[in-house]
Amino acid sequence: MHDSKPFSQACENNKQCILDVLRTVFTQPGIILEIGSGTGQHAVHFSSALPHLTWQPSDKPGNAQLCQARIKEAKLPNILPPLELDVNRAPWPLQVFDGVFSANTAHIMAWPEVAAMFRGVAAGLGSGQPFCLYGPFRYGRRHTSDSNHQFDLHLRNQAEHMGIRDLDDLRQLASTVGLSLADDAAMPANNHLLVWRKQ
Ligand SMILES: C[S@@+](CC[C@H](N)C(=O)[O-])C[C@H]1O[C@@H](n2cnc3c(N)ncnc32)[C@H](O)[C@@H]1O
Repeated sequence: MHDSKPFSQACENNKQCILDVLRTVFTQPGIILEIGSGTGQHAVHFSSALPHLTWQPSDKPGNAQLCQARIKEAKLPNILPPLELDVNRAPWPLQVFDGVFSANTAHIMAWPEVAAMFRGVAAGLGSGQPFCLYGPFRYGRRHTSDSNHQFDLHLRNQAEHMGIRDLDDLRQLASTVGLSLADDAAMPANNHLLVWRKQ
């Protein structure tokens, strides 16, 4: 049974595997901007396990408050109230940070929004700092599983602008803003955690 706070079963399933990688990447104290926080389950799980970080949740207006009750209830000293941040809208309410995390956003955003996200992230990170992007991705134009293929069709049926992104396109985009792929961790359920670093 869950209470009335917004809840995602997928977040419950993936949060520990993601954390296992984040603890090897976000090793330095600092502010981590989360883009598209959704229910806030990731924000609470990661900030409680990584007390050297200050976690800054955010989401676009209309969704930014989805995580508020969960964050308040968690009473953690290192998690900040959510910001309204739409990657399209410059200037971002937080423009300098030490790391970025975003889960399951690249296939929901339109491609120009993905580009805006990479631009804003690259502008705010210092040299060598990480951007962790979790979700399903295609490799060499191919899906990694039939279920991802079905999910991609489902997304594209829902809205033309959505769809699973190809790693080659993301690499190309990243190179134009000064980010490069430092690591690619395979995760359960045919997902990946891509670790980009500012050059
Ligand atoms: C599938 S949900 C993922 C939520 C959460 N990260 C998770 O893994 O469950 C996609 C998220 O992307 C956010 N999003 C979509 N477009 C956005 C934009 N232009 N700027 C910021 N966030 C956006 C949505 O509001 C939503 O919270």
